Amino acid sequence: MAQLWGGRFTKETDQLVYNFNASISFDKKFYRQDMEGSIAHVKMLGKQGILTEQETEELTAGVKDILNEVESGELEISHEYEDIHSFVEAALIERLGDTGKKLHTGRSRNDQVALDMRMYTRQEILETDQLLDEMLNAVLRIMDQNVDTFMPGFTHLQKAQPVTLAHHMGAYFEMFKRDRFRMEDIYHRMNYCPLGSGALAGTTYDLDRYYTAELLGFDGPTLNSMDGVSDRDYLIEYLSALCTVMMHLSRFSEEIIIWNSNEYQFVEIDDAYSTGSSIMPQKKNPDIAELVRGKTGRVYGSLMSLLTTMKGIPLAYNKDMQEDKELVFDAIDTVKGCLALFTGMLTTIRFNKDKMEESAKKGFTNATDAADYLVNHGVPFRDAHGIVGQIVLYCIERKTAIDDLSLDELKAISPVFEEDIFEAVSMKTCVEKRLTVGAPGQEAMKKVIAMEKEYLSQDWKKDLPDWENKLLK
Ligand code: ARG
Repeated sequence: MAQLWGGRFTKETDQLVYNFNASISFDKKFYRQDMEGSIAHVKMLGKQGILTEQETEELTAGVKDILNEVESGELEISHEYEDIHSFVEAALIERLGDTGKKLHTGRSRNDQVALDMRMYTRQEILETDQLLDEMLNAVLRIMDQNVDTFMPGFTHLQKAQPVTLAHHMGAYFEMFKRDRFRMEDIYHRMNYCPLGSGALAGTTYDLDRYYTAELLGFDGPTLNSMDGVSDRDYLIEYLSALCTVMMHLSRFSEEIIIWNSNEYQFVEIDDAYSTGSSIMPQKKNPDIAELVRGKTGRVYGSLMSLLTTMKGIPLAYNKDMQEDKELVFDAIDTVKGCLALFTGMLTTIRFNKDKMEESAKKGFTNATDAADYLVNHGVPFRDAHGIVGQIVLYCIERKTAIDDLSLDELKAISPVFEEDIFEAVSMKTCVEKRLTVGAPGQEAMKKVIAMEKEYLSQDWKKDLPDWENKLLK
């Protein structure tokens, strides 16, 4: 048991209480952010004349040494301390004596932990965005190669109209693109520095909060100290965005699982991304996709947990908030793992183009186009719908497709049909005629692909300040 407080206590903390209260087993995850925050705090105290030049130098160098030693593995973060903040302060006091005791001037663990968590999450938002970017690149490559790979488009999981693989993949591109916009959006909204909020009511020291904010790459300080120490909205927003990523990944997984089934055989998952059965030698299972689908529940759970934890907390800091960390860390690690694996699976998957095209042909996916043909020849749409319905029934009875009927058979149902019907209901025509923006026709699709390539060539992250190198140099 090693703690920062005790002066007003007459008894030792009960060991079970100590264990229950301690957070070092998980808050050591942001040791780097904790020490960077301390360096910025010390530099600001020096600039404001609250610490002497020498104290500032000693403390800055001391924290940097501890950081380097932790990174190199030379110094192990000991669980004997209550939290990462106590560990760093104790290590500093051990090295610098009384000067080390000045580190915490004008600071509380409340604004310190608020800062650490914010900085940690901010970095993770960038990494999630990067993984989404890589996923989008993988999806776009598939799109680029498959503008003429025909497949059935489904509604109600029933074959509906023919589309292309590029078009189907394009739907996921849009989803993950919106996920990236959410990352960017949250980043900008949360990028304000809570350091200097103190325990809840600011401090009586003349702190320059704009300066610490700038040193740490924030857009400015938070503007209310009670909110500064107790705001966890940005975590809720981020978790919500992560849940949406998982929902998208889960839908995609579900399709891969269906497409990989013996009945569909639209795709073959690479051996490196599938698993076998211990008893059934023939099996090659889509476990990655199933796990991603399964882990979605876990990420949803973290959002619900944090919302529930926060809902009854009066201002300002309360210890309940310590619960934010394990939930958020677990959700982040889960989503990052899922994104990386899914992208790998997608990059190596093989598409059975023949099976896809054959499936689109067999499912009357050109029935709407046959009706449109009649409409173009003066038949009112509702009547055309009925006529093609009869044709479909006729085909089902004879186990055949609309394009395989003879002109005489078609004319027997409606005399409006002529020889050009076969061209009109061919798969190629059905898809190629769909040329409105966002439709699967090759020319429409190529325009969208060009727009998405342009989008991927820009990265909002490259304009962010290089604060870390400056702070640590
Ligand atoms: N481990 C704490 C947390 O995660 C740090 C803040 C402690 N503050 C306090 N007043 N006990 O929230």
